[in-house]
Amino acid sequence: MDKKLIEEMIDLAIEQLNYSYTPYSGFKVGAALLTKEGKIYKGCNIENAAYTPTNCAERTAFFKAVSEGERAFQAICVVGGKDGILTEYAAPCGVCRQVMMEFCDPNTFQIILATSKDQYEIFTLKELLPLGFGPNNLN
Ligand code: THU
Repeated sequence: MDKKLIEEMIDLAIEQLNYSYTPYSGFKVGAALLTKEGKIYKGCNIENAAYTPTNCAERTAFFKAVSEGERAFQAICVVGGKDGILTEYAAPCGVCRQVMMEFCDPNTFQIILATSKDQYEIFTLKELLPLGFGPNNLN
């Protein structure tokens, strides 16, 4: 992936930490999702007093995009940390990996985990969700 684009996605994901709604955990997560056509959808985590309705940043970005008609994605950048302080990579939870599996090719979809513009690592969905169950299993 192009380094400038990766850096732009990291910037946008970090910006999302400002909108993260986390009165319960204080753990802020931001995401920037890149479509195959090059458009970027952003997302943050949104918590809830009843806890289970909480939506992760990754799914917020995916659901925003899918609800606007997008179906083809190339990469997502995820950042997160307690009180929005980025010390470690915030890897997507299992539910978010499964949502990625629904819309992305596990061999090519890139997951960028970052703590800053100079500190990031890129994984494929397959690396983070080996032997994932997806739409093709129902063919
Ligand atoms: N969270 C995300 O937004 N993405 C993940 O993949 C992991 C967890 C959020 C959910 C909750 O608001 C907070 O982090 C603590 O679990």
